[in-house]
Amino acid sequence: MIDSHAHLEMPEFNHDRKDVIQRAHDSGIDYIITIGIDIKSCKQAIALAEGNESIYAVLGIHPHNAKDIDESTYPLLRKLTQHDKVCALGEIGLDFFRNLSPPEIQIKRFRELIALARELRLPIVVHDRNAHQETLDILKEEKAFEVGGVIHCFSGDYEMASKCLNMGFYISIPGTITFKNARSLQELVRSIPLDRILLETDSPFLAPMPFRGKRNEPSYVRYVADKIAKLKKLDFEEVASVTSQNVKTLFRIPT
Ligand code: NI
Repeated sequence: MIDSHAHLEMPEFNHDRKDVIQRAHDSGIDYIITIGIDIKSCKQAIALAEGNESIYAVLGIHPHNAKDIDESTYPLLRKLTQHDKVCALGEIGLDFFRNLSPPEIQIKRFRELIALARELRLPIVVHDRNAHQETLDILKEEKAFEVGGVIHCFSGDYEMASKCLNMGFYISIPGTITFKNARSLQELVRSIPLDRILLETDSPFLAPMPFRGKRNEPSYVRYVADKIAKLKKLDFEEVASVTSQNVKTLFRIPT
């Protein structure tokens, strides 16, 4: 299995990061993709990837931090993404739920970051919360299909999923799929093809059942795989292997 989206550099892991990574390996996780959300965490993500064969880094500026982007940011990102273990640009996107950056700034920066990804020829990891239509419009207008990517923690409906799939994007499913009240996400998973689905934890957030409310970690990605297998009436092994291949294809991880 691969956890396609974790934030291993976050302080929640400061006291036991090594154990967390070891537990992931022990429970059959081959790779962890760790995701930067600002310049500082991007540097930490690279350091983690350098120290662990099984960790790859995705570098970006989270929409919450879009307001902190200045003239130094893009040259730095250009430089940092040259590293061998950097496999995508993200997470980038729009969060109109918390609006920690003003919406118009989020939109401007999202467009610029997609342009940067196209320049660097890197796929993108997209964060979309309460901004489905705007996300779709911007992905289309900025020609994000040229690089492709994944919509992380997908929260849209079937119609949105179809549009994303048509643009060549993958759909990433988090631990919330295991929640009783996740009916619409569960329905969606039944109707989209396995070869376009990624598994993720979004650790340290969004722990699946039976750990809901606790700190999440990459080893729990197996609860996501297990739930998808049950929903789609497939073997666990098939879900694990197909979704791992999807990550390797999207992020060009050598096999
Ligand atoms: Ni995230």
